Formats: sequence, structure tokens, C-alpha cells
Amino acid sequence: MKEFMCTVISNVEILPHVNLMWLEASQIAATAQPGQFVTLCCGDLTLRRPLSIHQVNKRQIALLFKIAGKGTLWLSQRREGDRLNVLGPLGKGFKVESDSRNLLMLAGGIGIAPLVFLAQYASSQHSVKLIHGAGTSSELYSLSPLPSGIQVTTVTEDGSGGNGKGLITDILPDFLEWTDQMYACGPSGMYKGMAKLLCRFKSPAPCASEELVPSETFTQDKAEEGYKLKKCQISLEVRMGCGVGACYGCSINTKKGLKKVCLDGPVFELDDILWEGVKI
Ligand code: FES
Repeated sequence: MKEFMCTVISNVEILPHVNLMWLEASQIAATAQPGQFVTLCCGDLTLRRPLSIHQVNKRQIALLFKIAGKGTLWLSQRREGDRLNVLGPLGKGFKVESDSRNLLMLAGGIGIAPLVFLAQYASSQHSVKLIHGAGTSSELYSLSPLPSGIQVTTVTEDGSGGNGKGLITDILPDFLEWTDQMYACGPSGMYKGMAKLLCRFKSPAPCASEELVPSETFTQDKAEEGYKLKKCQISLEVRMGCGVGACYGCSINTKKGLKKVCLDGPVFELDDILWEGVKI
């Protein structure tokens, strides 16, 4: 992990308030793993902005980010030829088990960002299916960077586009028999919904959560199938201070104790997260 001055190759708004930025960053591109992130210095703002590595192409990396504050607004205004201070690659990324064959990826909105890199990385050796959900059709990401052969299903909450109306968790049960490893990135509500759903599939007994709402498609057969499921890795995006493990500003509670998202993550096992108090 090192700090580099990287040149902006392009920076385009590809969805409403979402930019795709390509940077010349040969040393980061050479070692980056799917799920890792970089932090960027944003003008005179004190805190650096963490962003997932979205794609890698030879000497370049791509960052996909939503304009959600001063830092990302400043980044969205950078132009070709501008130089940015970039630190990375940082954190621990996704792990693909050697005996896994069928990988299911779940992308909620801008959560598509790290999963495109993972899909590009894994698709030559594995069968990959991706479910991408968004609030409305204008928020659906163009999936052209994905390698051919990846089966994509899209859903929108308002039914204005994609393959149907609903949430990712509404159609997830249809994919559970097929997959043997899952990866997700999205908002906390999606993770909590997945945790409840997968808990239900893993155990015929009620889950600990009082809030559990069983899936309509839940059946005893599928519950038994659920025992065979591998765990689901998720990428957490939380507010960060230092980004390198020094300030505890990104700490979360897990079943394995207090963890720093910037150092121990941002990828964690869904099962391990204790959601109370996690703000993402
Ligand atoms: Fe400082 Fe993670 S942001 S420890």
C-alpha cells in the first residue's frame, strides 16, 4: 500500500449523480484484488474519500462513485489530465474458494462498484450470475463492462425497468440452489434482509431475530438445501477516518470481536456482522 499521484484519464457522469472515473495508476492496478479500495485526497478536505476499485485494465483503474457530499462532488469535477493523490490498494478483498463453481453476485444500486471487478476476475474460472437491483430504471448500471457469459437479472423497486419489480431479496431464493458461493454489495437494508432470509434457509428453526419475516417462497426442501450453502461475503462501506487502521473510526461489532472495516475488511462474512450500531 502506497500513496501515488495518479492522472485522470476520464471522468463521466454515467447515471444521475454517479460518475465513472478512470485513472492512470499502474502500481495500484498491478496488485489490486477485487473488493479492495483506495482513498483519495479531495482538495482541501481533511478526510480522504474511500472508494472501491471498480475495474482494472492494464495500467488503469476505474472508480464508480455516487456524488453524496463535498468530497465526491469535488471528485466529480476533476477533468482529464488532473492529478489526484491516491492511496492503495487497501483492505482485504473478496475470496473465491478453489472448489466453488457457481458464484452469485448481488448488487444493490451503486453496490455494483466492486462486483464488476470481481466478475471480471472470476468469470474465466467460474460460472457467474449477477442480480442487480435499483430503485428505478434510470439507476440501473449499464452492464457492458461485464464479460460475456455472465447471466444478469435486474430488478427495480418501482417496476420501471429491468426484469421485474421488487427487491433483490425477493428473487434471491430462486438462485440459492444453484449457487455455492455468494457476494454482495449494497445498502444496509439489503444486507439485513439477506441475513434474515439466509438465516431462515440455513435453519428450519426460527432465527434469533424477532423481526424475521419468512420468505413467501421458503419451503422445508429449500431449508435443507440451505445447509449446503456457503457463506455470503459482503463489502461494507462505512465512514472512515484514516483508512489505514490507525483511528478506530470505522470499527464495527462482529461475532469475532471489534473489527476495523478499513483494515480487516471492507469484505466480511454476512453471518459475522452484528448489525446493531452499524451505520452504512
Ligand atoms: Fe481509521 Fe479505519 S478509518 S481505523
